[in-house]
Amino acid sequence: MLREALLSVSRSERLKAVASDAPPLRAMVDRFVAGERTEDAVRATGEIVATGRFVTLDHLGEDTLDLERATATRDAYVSLLDALGEAGLTAGAEVSVKLSAVGQALPGDGEKIARDYAAAICEKATALGTTVTLDMEDHTTTDSTLGVLRELRQDFPATGGVLQAYLRRTEADCRDLATEGSRIRLCKGAYSEPESVAYADRAEVDRAYVRCMKILMQGEGYPMLATHDPRLVDIGGALAVRNDRQPGSYEFQMLFGIRADEQQRLADMGETVRVYVPYGDEWYGYLVRRLAEKPTNLSLLARALVSKG
Ligand code: FDA
Repeated sequence: MLREALLSVSRSERLKAVASDAPPLRAMVDRFVAGERTEDAVRATGEIVATGRFVTLDHLGEDTLDLERATATRDAYVSLLDALGEAGLTAGAEVSVKLSAVGQALPGDGEKIARDYAAAICEKATALGTTVTLDMEDHTTTDSTLGVLRELRQDFPATGGVLQAYLRRTEADCRDLATEGSRIRLCKGAYSEPESVAYADRAEVDRAYVRCMKILMQGEGYPMLATHDPRLVDIGGALAVRNDRQPGSYEFQMLFGIRADEQQRLADMGETVRVYVPYGDEWYGYLVRRLAEKPTNLSLLARALVSKG
């Protein structure tokens, strides 16, 4: 219930305005977000890569209904990639892009704008020897995002996609996308979704995650297992052994600021581990989703909002 309520405010502009300068939230932001500027993102990337882990960078922002902002987001990714290139970090770092941040929801030709802007980011990434993964957002965007992914892969075959185990459709999508060269991140799913399209019960989501992981790990693609859940990480490792997959033919992914010790333990064992590193000042929606995942953190948000009246 609380999780649903929180997720429903993750898109509230009024609460965003109230929360953005609430001091108790700053500490949470500092834990989950690498900083506001490109330099902060590059510095955090350098530190993580030096420990043997890999990185995917997210320039924070989503649900853009403003063409100028979408264009600025595209440009921010291109500048970030240039900065990573200059720092010699593109072998260890790629970028994650939300299509809603580059115009997908703009009226009229939003999907085309998002595809063109994502293509510009893919072009820069490819020129620098790295890749792009398209994040997945709420279920109303799934078909559009998978359609754009298909198109981008014609010119940039290494472009990755994300599937969310909580969606009832996802096992079928895993079968479709477990093909050679196909980079697919599997996560549980972070949005508030109706029961008609998504499993609500956490145990049911976990079981769906295992079914999807089996399909991807048996398939021909490159699975990216994005979870902090210790049971699912163990099952992922066991499936790698069962399917004769060597480290490097799949990877684990976790978020910046969450279970860093476990990230390092897996990397030290020879697993490929990639850390999802968000940066930028549009942190509100991202932070609320992270707080919704961890009920013990919720009191912080409540206190911050109450203290701001
Ligand atoms: P679960 O939430 O059950 O957590 C398992 C354990 O991990 C917890 O018991 C706790 O120990 C720890 N943990 C998890 N979240 C925590 C938090 N916020 N704070 C502190 N501890 C925490 N979603 C989406 O819809 N679209 C996307 O594109 C992506 N992309 C993505 C990339 C990567 C690299 C990751 C790791 C995750 C995503 N997600 C996502 C988010 C994902 O859908 C999911 O909401 C979170 O990963 C939490 O689910 P877990 O699998 O970690 O399990």
